[in-house]
Amino acid sequence: MKADKILKNFSQIFCPIDQGIPLRGEQMSEAVIIEDGYIAIKDGKILAVAKGDPDEALIDEETEIIDYTGKLATPGLIDCHTHLVYGGSREHEFSQKLNGVAYLDILAQGGGILSTVEATRKASFKELYDKSAALLDKMLIHGVTTVEAKSGYGLNWETEEKQLQVVKKLNEEHAVDLVSTFMGAHAIPAEYKGRASEFIDFIIHDMLPKVKAENLAEFCDIFCEKGVFTAQESEKLLQAAKDMGFKLRIHADEIATIGGVDVAAKLGAVSAEHLMMITDEGIKKLSEAHVIGNLLPATTFSLMEDTYAPAKKMIDHGMAITLTTDSNPGSCPTANLQFIMQLGCFMQKLTPIQVFNAVTINAAYSVCRADTIGSFDKGKNADIAIFDAPNIDFPLYFFATNLVEAVYKAGNLVIS
Ligand code: NIG
Ligand code: FE
Repeated sequence: MKADKILKNFSQIFCPIDQGIPLRGEQMSEAVIIEDGYIAIKDGKILAVAKGDPDEALIDEETEIIDYTGKLATPGLIDCHTHLVYGGSREHEFSQKLNGVAYLDILAQGGGILSTVEATRKASFKELYDKSAALLDKMLIHGVTTVEAKSGYGLNWETEEKQLQVVKKLNEEHAVDLVSTFMGAHAIPAEYKGRASEFIDFIIHDMLPKVKAENLAEFCDIFCEKGVFTAQESEKLLQAAKDMGFKLRIHADEIATIGGVDVAAKLGAVSAEHLMMITDEGIKKLSEAHVIGNLLPATTFSLMEDTYAPAKKMIDHGMAITLTTDSNPGSCPTANLQFIMQLGCFMQKLTPIQVFNAVTINAAYSVCRADTIGSFDKGKNADIAIFDAPNIDFPLYFFATNLVEAVYKAGNLVIS
């Protein structure tokens, strides 16, 4: 078969090994790294990836050949935890934070997530769409080709639906692919103050069936945290979501250890998020239950906390982990997944191979898309990030600078 396009002369091509399940434990340190290689593309899919000069059998007069001498290619990066769609922004809380006011205290005073809820309720569909599209553009220039996006700044049906519809339309129209998560249980809205469990019932009986009926989300998530939702409330909601056919995620052990990890293990969640405060017992439970740990080190950075999720210990205990931005207006205002990858090295002491596996193949499993993305296996989508870097170490070592110079999405050059 002839290729439509051949990208050649890469100094390195990072090829994650898709084992059919997320890479766990020491598998996270394994990958194939092709030196001086090429990638052949046919109909937007990977046709061949190999060392040396392109095979003549792949080339005819219509094959476009592009030279990437000295560059690094990896599968398009996957950001598997974001709060993409929201109104307003929260830089007005920054001084408060710098003066030591805690994130959960700002929330308890009606700020934080609740101030974004107010702004998101007021924003029109078009305002939210344009703002989110602009944020996606910024993610794309950093090499990100697939993004998980949560609702959760509506906390009422009208606005949750508006957010989910924005995600749906962006998925149809933007180069970046989106995976939708319903997170109506992101905070307790002012109108339910002191009545968290009634709010959970409202979500179960009113919102979840509508999300399902309109097919607006694949996953359901909840913020299981001190002062927000208890482990018991989280289990109730996620069990109901599971019964309706949603896949599960849970924000757990972010600020306090209150049992979210047990809920994730018990219900077989696809992933548990944050895990900064996870215990050794919690690591064991997630490892045994094969729950992926989605780690968000830039949230620790942005909250100016000292504790990063114990990524190495998780890997040593056989867990699968990913690294992801948590992009949101409060606890992590960024669009740069490369910075998160660098924190994975600098603050969590992960190796470059572990980091690239975390944001490619494991992130693909975390969004349940590993059949089509996350590695360079033949037939997967030709989503490719090309770095102005000679090897996989360089973009992690040379920090806080966008080193992505080209991005292909399904074989099309979308950033150059
Ligand atoms: O994952 N922790 C809860 N939700 C987000 C923060 C959202 C916000 O602050 O607006 C998070 O950190
Ligand atoms: Fe989050």
